[in-house]
Amino acid sequence: MSRVITETMVRVEDVHRSYSRGAAAVHALRGVSFEVARGELVALKGRSGSGKTTLLNIVGGLDTPDRGSVTVDGRNLAELGENGLLELRRDRIGFVFQSFGLIPILTAAENVGVPMRLRRTDAREREERVELLLGLVGLAEHAAQRPGELSGGQQQRVAVARALANRPALIVADEPTGQLDAETGHAVMELLRAVVRSENVTALVATHDTTLLDLADRVLELADGEIAEH
Ligand SMILES: Nc1ncnc2c1ncn2[C@@H]1O[C@H](COP(=O)(O)OP(=O)(O)O)[C@@H](O)[C@H]1O
Ligand SMILES: [Mg+2]
Repeated sequence: MSRVITETMVRVEDVHRSYSRGAAAVHALRGVSFEVARGELVALKGRSGSGKTTLLNIVGGLDTPDRGSVTVDGRNLAELGENGLLELRRDRIGFVFQSFGLIPILTAAENVGVPMRLRRTDAREREERVELLLGLVGLAEHAAQRPGELSGGQQQRVAVARALANRPALIVADEPTGQLDAETGHAVMELLRAVVRSENVTALVATHDTTLLDLADRVLELADGEIAEH
């Protein structure tokens, strides 16, 4: 896999994505271009339906654009193929979703360990990193609890720890505070702010909560599938 070391973590160039809905087409993204530098926390704002999820899915290699190109961590996604994309998602990108996405029957510690199991990380190393990460997100005392035994904010902290498990270069977070009350949401955004600094990662975070934008290094706005930088 060819890889160029660059200070640009994400480069999106003229990305278009349409969905067909019956006979009509929905143009979710209409020529989106932007870059995210290594180490930046960029907030992506825009009202519901503006294309945020579509864009994050494309940047995260979960969906492909109809037109345009996406480079993440020096790799052109169009050149990766199925296995290459799978490896990129597993090893270089950490995902955080609005609905947390934890596995209900696993404990907090086991959930954080899942990405390392997928990568067949040695058990001892895995356990040490799980402990470190749960400490980092302030949940050392809750390692043995299952998601149903944790508050929403605590569950999202577990999800952030899980996203960091394989030491990703990039965190992609789609409305990570969308299901949390304002105060808890702010605390989760502050946690993302802190881990971007301490774990040397880059983050692209979609949110429509304007009170969280102050924590970002930069804000991009999507409106009707087009970007307007602030
Ligand atoms: N799978 C899909 N099929 C058809 N239309 C979709 C699909 N996903 C998203 N859309 C449409 O694309 C537009 C952008 O949606 P989305 O990216 O989810 O925006 P946001 O995350 O900002 O709310 C919306 O008009 C939405 O209805
Ligand atoms: Mg969305």
